[in-house]
Amino acid sequence: MAINDIFLEEIRDRNDIEDIVSSYVNLKRQGKILKGLCPFHNEKTPSFTVYPDTKSFYCFGCGAGGEVITFIRRIENLDFVEAVRFLAERSGLQMPEDGYDDSVAKHRKRLYAANREAARFYYSCLVSQGGKAGLDYLLGRGLTMSTIRHFGMGFAPDSWDSLIKHMNSKGFTNAELYDANLVKRSERNNKLTYYDNFRNRVMTPIIDLRGNVIGFGGRVLDDSKPKYVNTSDTLIYKKTNNVFALNFAKNGNPDSMIVCEGYMDVIALHQAGFTNAVASLGTALTREQAGLISRYTSEVILSYYADEAGQEATQKAIRLFDETGVRLRVLKLEGGKDPDEIIKKYGKERFRSLIDGAANDIEYNILKIRNKFDLKSSDGKVNFLSETAKLLAGCSQIEQDVYASRLANELGVSKDAITGEIRRQYARRRSGENKRRFEDIKRFAVSPKDEINPQRRDNVRAARAEDILLSLILNNPEFYNKIKDNISADIFATDFNRRVFEIISQRLENNESIELTFISSLFTPEETGRLAKFIAMRNEISNTVEECNDCINVLRQEHDKKNENNPADMSDEEFLKHFRKKSEVK
Ligand code: GTP
Ligand code: MN
Repeated sequence: MAINDIFLEEIRDRNDIEDIVSSYVNLKRQGKILKGLCPFHNEKTPSFTVYPDTKSFYCFGCGAGGEVITFIRRIENLDFVEAVRFLAERSGLQMPEDGYDDSVAKHRKRLYAANREAARFYYSCLVSQGGKAGLDYLLGRGLTMSTIRHFGMGFAPDSWDSLIKHMNSKGFTNAELYDANLVKRSERNNKLTYYDNFRNRVMTPIIDLRGNVIGFGGRVLDDSKPKYVNTSDTLIYKKTNNVFALNFAKNGNPDSMIVCEGYMDVIALHQAGFTNAVASLGTALTREQAGLISRYTSEVILSYYADEAGQEATQKAIRLFDETGVRLRVLKLEGGKDPDEIIKKYGKERFRSLIDGAANDIEYNILKIRNKFDLKSSDGKVNFLSETAKLLAGCSQIEQDVYASRLANELGVSKDAITGEIRRQYARRRSGENKRRFEDIKRFAVSPKDEINPQRRDNVRAARAEDILLSLILNNPEFYNKIKDNISADIFATDFNRRVFEIISQRLENNESIELTFISSLFTPEETGRLAKFIAMRNEISNTVEECNDCINVLRQEHDKKNENNPADMSDEEFLKHFRKKSEVK
């Protein structure tokens, strides 16, 4: 089950946390610590902190934290054993043969293997006689053989079981195929029947950043519906967290990435030489995808359809990319509905010139406002200006200046009038923001939501004392022997903190280390974040045994208070007293 401590110690020592994190996050040293933009949530000012001395990291923005194994678990999306193996391989260590449960990791491996084999099968179908319809379709859309091979495209035959038969012959069980979403099943007369999920479709594999095939998008050959059948989420594939073609696009370290809507757009763009094109996977862009893309480039060019749905998607994407801090431009697709069509109709130079002329997001938004009003009427002009001022109120001083001048020239209004309006809108926005901020604080003060320790909101005082006590012990394990006779797990008010206490006191009783490295396997990565927080709290506490005892006293008081008030635990006499007291108040 557990990987032994000696091996974990090796892993820790050979994989310096600063080194490992630096290959994913741009860190800047600030004295003893390093800071950077958190890779686990979107932020513009760094709150992600690495502590080389305690070999831990913690993000004050989102609460992610832990040691090097937890970092790899989260960033590479691996389970504990896989993360250890990842680090073992990186540092040339041999994984111990026994002593851990790797059944999930094995299953995952099988699903990767199944997807890879399926991709091979679909490709061989495409280039064989039976796949002629599929190949004709792709060639008919202008794809070359070389593009088809590059993307590993294929054809799923018009049959209920050709994939199943092939995969069975390669040793994959129906249950494995089902878990990979390659087959579906139905139940009839108490009997499970399996059948191919993709039939009579051209297939595009979805490949993760490490080159594994993790799913497919399958398109019909005509206008029938549904146009696409996509792999639904599996153990190895989550569509909201993956980006189509990012595995190719990231390779050239591109200065910018083109974000489109469709698989076919991306493929056509790559063929035309725009190898920095990517797409979200059959859903509107998600925060995770925006975050992922922004890790590999500093500028995003949105290239969504010109129709209403496409424009709505653009607005949402602008908001998401805004949070990541990448530069943003928006393509205006003139003369075609999508990149694929534009390239086919007018050639790649046209698309290149669209990119070169792409408006930044401010220009794009001004254009959109402009389209709403009739600028020939004075009413229209006034409304256009006031709405544009609202937009510019959220921009930088320089941007405000540039656009105010442009608008003044264009509309024949004085620049002062425009900047005045921007200032008014800015003041308005600020007061609204302050109000919102105040409401956030109020809400937080009333009911702090805590997903790791949900009982905290009903036990604020006790939970605070528990946090400090755990921070004291984690940072000063030698205190434990001095206080252990004063404390037992049952005076903890919250289950999460009690569990932490039980685990670390158990280890300390056995003279084992309670460093994060050795206990993180017993917690989820999110929970480990809380432990990292306790460790990071050491600058806020006095690190004395007295402080431990203060915390224990608070816990005891809170514990007694609770039992006193719980009628179920009272003797008849106490209950009567309690009841009288209550009715007196009324
Ligand atoms: P073509 O019509 O062949 O050019 O395909 P496309 O890839 O350009 O797709 P389209 O622009 O119609 O849609 C954009 C993306 O939305 C596709 O790439 C799919 O990821 C997704 N999508 C489109 N239709 C469907 C559907 O019927 N079902 C699902 N699940 N996803 C779809
Ligand atoms: Mn298309």
